[in-house]
Amino acid sequence: MEKSAAKIRIDELRSILWENSRRYYVDNNPAISDYEFDTLMHELEGLEQSFPEFQSPDSPTRKVGSDLDASITENAETLKSGEFVKREHRYPMLSLGNTYSISEVEEFAARADKTLDEDFSYCCELKFDGTAICLTYTKGILTRALTRGDGVQGDDVTENVRRISNIPQKLHGDFPDDLEIRGEILMPYKAFDALNAERADNDEPPFANPRNAASGSLKLSDPDEVAKRGLMCTLYHIPAQSVTFSTHDEALTKAASWGLPVSEDRRICHGIAEVKAFIDHWDIQRKFLPYATDGCVIKINEMQAQRTLGYTAKSPRWAVAYKFKAEQACTELQSISYQVGRTGAVTPVANLAPVQLSGTVVKRATLNNEEQMALLDVRVGDFVYVEKGGEIIPKITGVNLAKRPEEAAKPAFPEVCPDCGTPLVKVDAKWFCPNTDGCPMQIKGR
Ligand code: IVH
Repeated sequence: MEKSAAKIRIDELRSILWENSRRYYVDNNPAISDYEFDTLMHELEGLEQSFPEFQSPDSPTRKVGSDLDASITENAETLKSGEFVKREHRYPMLSLGNTYSISEVEEFAARADKTLDEDFSYCCELKFDGTAICLTYTKGILTRALTRGDGVQGDDVTENVRRISNIPQKLHGDFPDDLEIRGEILMPYKAFDALNAERADNDEPPFANPRNAASGSLKLSDPDEVAKRGLMCTLYHIPAQSVTFSTHDEALTKAASWGLPVSEDRRICHGIAEVKAFIDHWDIQRKFLPYATDGCVIKINEMQAQRTLGYTAKSPRWAVAYKFKAEQACTELQSISYQVGRTGAVTPVANLAPVQLSGTVVKRATLNNEEQMALLDVRVGDFVYVEKGGEIIPKITGVNLAKRPEEAAKPAFPEVCPDCGTPLVKVDAKWFCPNTDGCPMQIKGR
């Protein structure tokens, strides 16, 4: 690629990645799949390596995505993070290098082999698909909980975290006086389904997946509301500077002995073959877990080896995340129907040629609203890609343009209520039927 073309593409990728990072971490409403995001990020990494003159400390390849932002979110119940006090992290909260390819995991192992003189093992864990949290215990008492924020400072969500039932307020046993421990806040599928059912009843837009629901819930203004959301926590990292252990696994075992929630689904692996077996096992078994996971994290277990390997600007060199690809299916969009909810909100729904996806037959997928339909540019007759957002709600993630029938026309969003014929009115991104008392579908819904 020529230098000038590379510069244009680098600028373009940076702007797409920042925009989508904001949609993911701040709005909790991503527009593209994690896989698409990671693929664009890898393209940018490659270009920055080939054209080092365009490297920049502000590039998304060097900075972790930030959940701090003062812009209004689309999920209107989520507060602006500006309303939480921001506090500096004692140790920066980094991200993980990630890959979808086993050969890159092998390369990670080969690099470790080459750099490290001593014997070492891997601690393999699940990659929990929630929102990151950093807890501080002072003399065994929970004193602070910060979101990752921009990695340097995070939102103080301590009062909300106190209402998450599996997070202890007090530790027991031989805990250190000053402990910092990090992990993930998750919303189990059951709680997620209940929340979305309630939101559908209230004609509020559903959360696309449990991750977005967890992160939106953690930033609610009312801790009593947070308590009702059924969130849970799992912890997986004690910053090395904080307390000294000889292995990562020992640190987690200790944390569990102090009463902290640590997953037992981890394994010490010797050599890459065992690492691969762990990944293969969880690629299947994770479907039976009560919460979402999106891959495995492979960490060098010995703390001394971790120190030797060190960090890049954005992530540790002693760990890598192997991510599972979301299962996708391609099927025909047969028609679009418009559902009128009990508050009169009109939601477009895609009716699909039935297709198998992650063990169930999918026939319908939500198109959310007019804006989303336009963004996807879907047309009846198109072959569309369907994914299960967080493995639960099917959503359309794209269109196979190569298969678009010539006659396929852009769908027109109805101007009148599909049920009672009253002209629709637009409020924010949604169209509503204003015939509250006379519209049969609204009455039936109530
Ligand atoms: S270790 C210094 N272990 O994935 C790195 N992270 O995509 C500490 N995550 O920012 C992180 N499961 O929020 C670690 N078992 C696990 C994890 C995990 C999920 C999250 C974490 C991280 C993100 C990177």
